[in-house]
Amino acid sequence: MSKDVIILAIESSCDETSMAIVKNGHDILSLTISSQIKTHANFGGVVPEIASRMHTENITFVLEETLKKFKGTIADIDAIAVTYAPGLLGSLLVGIECAKALSLVYNKPLIAVNHTMGHIYANNIENKITYPTLALVVSGGHTDLLILKSENEMQLLGSSIDDSIGEVYDKVARVLGMTYPGGPNIEKAAVKGEDTYKLPKPMQDDSYNFSFSGLKSYIVNLVHNEKQRGNEIRKDDLAKSFQIAAVDEIVRKVTLAIKNTGIKHFVLAGGVSANKYLREELSKVCNQNNVKFHVPNILYCTDNAAMIGCAAYPLYKEKKFADFSLNAKSSENIKLYIEKNK
Ligand code: KG4
Ligand code: ZN
Repeated sequence: MSKDVIILAIESSCDETSMAIVKNGHDILSLTISSQIKTHANFGGVVPEIASRMHTENITFVLEETLKKFKGTIADIDAIAVTYAPGLLGSLLVGIECAKALSLVYNKPLIAVNHTMGHIYANNIENKITYPTLALVVSGGHTDLLILKSENEMQLLGSSIDDSIGEVYDKVARVLGMTYPGGPNIEKAAVKGEDTYKLPKPMQDDSYNFSFSGLKSYIVNLVHNEKQRGNEIRKDDLAKSFQIAAVDEIVRKVTLAIKNTGIKHFVLAGGVSANKYLREELSKVCNQNNVKFHVPNILYCTDNAAMIGCAAYPLYKEKKFADFSLNAKSSENIKLYIEKNK
């Protein structure tokens, strides 16, 4: 394909209204992210009804900003991409309806992108994904370990069987009285703390699945019990001990996958991949096993539309376009996505 492909991408699956214009699946020509975090922080987490209402209020402004920063016109755009799954139903629908309207009015093909695939493809922004590669997606919604055999072929090795790692970071932060989103606050506290709390090790098996709910419940109970006894919680220490327990488990499963598959590339993705300790520990284990470690710039780890524009590019090349019957699929996780696209 010789001509440049320019895609306008929309992301509204959770609490960020974002649009981007991306050239050839990696070159970001324009990006706007309008975050609702401050509003949801007042409630200790994302309130779905408020999220969809705020997307509706923000989306026109986000579109205007994105086009303003772009040194071209809508005529230069080849396709409109949008996240259709997974995420909050009402939030997804705002992005989808906007994408359909743009596609109809400007007569551009519509591309439906799975949000988790978006996180993975953020790895094409500064580098290029080399196949085959192992991929780990750690976000507020999911914890998935995969093999990407090629652009079109994937195998899911394992997922979290209960809470995602991001959810647990947020919950632990909440019981420690930290604001939403908890991940960055736990990370900051952990830097100041010592690993002095003895916490249970999550799932001690050799599968590629993850389970963090036991660790979460243990910490929630510990904090409540200590409070009832009038004992002080050493927040920084608990944050550090939690982070080590959770990250150790992730590193252990990734090491297992590296050893068993012999794959020499690894990509990290998703909001929790902004975590420095996780990045360092995974980078270390990759180096020890001669595996090349890739992770997006922190800017592109949490939700943004640039990653959706990147993931839409291979679909554009294959002419995998959606029609106007496109609907939001709140629970289409990566497992269902792979099965659907077999
Ligand atoms: O990918 P993302 O932006 O949204 C979803 O697709 O879920 O991920 C959000 C999650 C939240 O749980 C947030 O606490 C976590 O990513 N997160 C972090 C860090 N930055 C964001 N977790 C740990 N350390 C961080 N620095
Ligand atoms: Zn995400």
